[in-house]
Amino acid sequence: MSDEAFAPAVSEWYAPPESIVQQAHIQDYAALYDRARADVTAFWAEQAATLEWHRPWDTVLDDSQAPFFKWFVGARTNIVHNALDRHVKTWKRNKLALIWEGEPGDKVTMSYWRLWQEVNRFANVLKSMGVRKGDRVTIYMGRIPEIIIAMLACAKLGAPHSVVYGGFSEQALADRIEDARSRVLITCDGAWLRGKVVPLKDVVDEAIHRSPIVEHVIVVKRTGQPIKMEQGRDYWYHELMSLPIASRQCDTEIVDAEDPLFILYTSGTTGKPKGVLHTHGGYQVYTSTTLKWAFDIKEEDRYWCAADPGWITGHSYIVYAPLILGATSILYEGAPNFPYPDRWWRIIEEYGVTILYTAPTAIRGLMRFGENWPARRDLSSLRLLGSVGEPINPEAWRWYHKNIGKERCPVIDTWWQTETGGFMITPLPSATRPFPGIEADIVDEEGNSVPPGVDGNLVIKQPWPAMLRTVYGDPERYVQQYWSRYQQHGWWYLTGDSARKDHDGYYWIIGRNDDVLKVSGYRLGTAEVESGLVSHPAVAEAAVIGVPDEVKGNAIYAYCILRNGFVASAALVDELKHHIRHEVGPIAVPEKIELVVSLPKTRSGKIMRRVLKARAQGLPEGDISTLEE
Ligand code: WTA
Repeated sequence: MSDEAFAPAVSEWYAPPESIVQQAHIQDYAALYDRARADVTAFWAEQAATLEWHRPWDTVLDDSQAPFFKWFVGARTNIVHNALDRHVKTWKRNKLALIWEGEPGDKVTMSYWRLWQEVNRFANVLKSMGVRKGDRVTIYMGRIPEIIIAMLACAKLGAPHSVVYGGFSEQALADRIEDARSRVLITCDGAWLRGKVVPLKDVVDEAIHRSPIVEHVIVVKRTGQPIKMEQGRDYWYHELMSLPIASRQCDTEIVDAEDPLFILYTSGTTGKPKGVLHTHGGYQVYTSTTLKWAFDIKEEDRYWCAADPGWITGHSYIVYAPLILGATSILYEGAPNFPYPDRWWRIIEEYGVTILYTAPTAIRGLMRFGENWPARRDLSSLRLLGSVGEPINPEAWRWYHKNIGKERCPVIDTWWQTETGGFMITPLPSATRPFPGIEADIVDEEGNSVPPGVDGNLVIKQPWPAMLRTVYGDPERYVQQYWSRYQQHGWWYLTGDSARKDHDGYYWIIGRNDDVLKVSGYRLGTAEVESGLVSHPAVAEAAVIGVPDEVKGNAIYAYCILRNGFVASAALVDELKHHIRHEVGPIAVPEKIELVVSLPKTRSGKIMRRVLKARAQGLPEGDISTLEE
């Protein structure tokens, strides 16, 4: 639901409980923010010093090739050293790193010691397959412990991982394999979702058929459903892990702070997804600092980020930051309402979860089932709630605060992006502003700061350690997309979001102002769905828009013009939905596909999505003077 209608008209005030404030890591936000602003590099150096480095940095921030900023230049490190190796030398080796529950109800717990060993063993397996520093490894799996093991094993070897979310299909996976030029792919035989098996390995087979550069496929047996194993290409994970090669000792490859840690593909304004590149050094500093301060992580917490490891939220706040902080994380495989709508609340009760971090779309989805489901579970262990991914509407916020947090838990609404690596604008349990060291502003088309109450473009005016470093293989796109818009003013990072400040100085995010959609918290480009549609022989032209939806935030509507010789029918619409499911993925299937004879276009031939959007909602079409005859 777009909050355009209310922001910032809502003016309820909720103070965090005293008990939380008193124990919070950060007591004086304003002083910290000012200190960070006064000397931003000294501030980040101070945070970096809380981690271990194999060689210290010579320069904190190198801006000599801006906007290709570099952080902690000269330092040697590896994020896995800070996430695992250093912990197993302390009492933390016996602390739980991971509590996992499968959708059918099976359970696994792993101490830091055990996780470290599993990562070492799998890193040795990867090494034996020829994976070396710099090689890109594609990971396409469900939410099982092995996805975390696989990511960390790659990082340990200095081999950047490229995780592709399991809700993407054949062509999307093939494109990402090809762009990253991965020779090794890690997957599983399927994943459980709503009691059914998602056939991930079949998708892999088809993707490799289309992008035949993958030489080795490692398959985790999760569901036991029959799959095809190709001789000489496909190997079972458990068989490799039982070989002598999979020893428990594996040295961590010490890399430059600026060496790549991962590529994560995300949607932009063109059909081709962007490979956002993050590095070891700055990312480890930034993700751990933000998680510690915003969620106030303590030794005894049981922290549950209910996202998927395949998105940035999972990378930063399921895998890396919690492990660096030595926290205990929960990972759950399946759907929130399987077999009943209290599955999440049961997990909180059973494991004594203290912090829950999820997306508004999940809250709205669970809200529909009513407050009796959470009321029947003991949620008293919770002390803090988080939200991410899209604007949280007041109804969802209040429901979350009242029925899950029982009005005792602060709701930490974190605004950030794949590109930013970590939280950028977020309340700390004692304040609501940009994170210390982050200089955000809302500006008009010319770059002037707009007054409170006025919409503008959200920009970040100062580089930060977890910023993306480039678009993999396409540095020009990096400059053009993120840094060129306000170049006359300096290097301002363009977020693609519009926002507004209220009179108290709080930021309200309105939503994307480019061709990116947030659908159920997932990030998709309209162009991605459009190119999926036109790849069907019946479709000559397609236009895709997002229409406000009560649960999903946005629903996808598509308008297609058919090629000569094709006749509109309900069967064809179904076939197009099926096609999108396979070309892009189940998350991209339009709610509605309308077959039309023309599309509203400007005289220069650009589709006027704004007009389509107004029509779809029955709203006035606005200025249509540029509409072609
Ligand atoms: C949106 C997800 C409002 C925003 C971490 C951003 C939000 C896009 C919030 C990035 C929030 C994320 N309030 N909007 N708390 N968090 N967004 O790359 O439009 O999947 O640009 O990263 O999500 O999506 P991405």
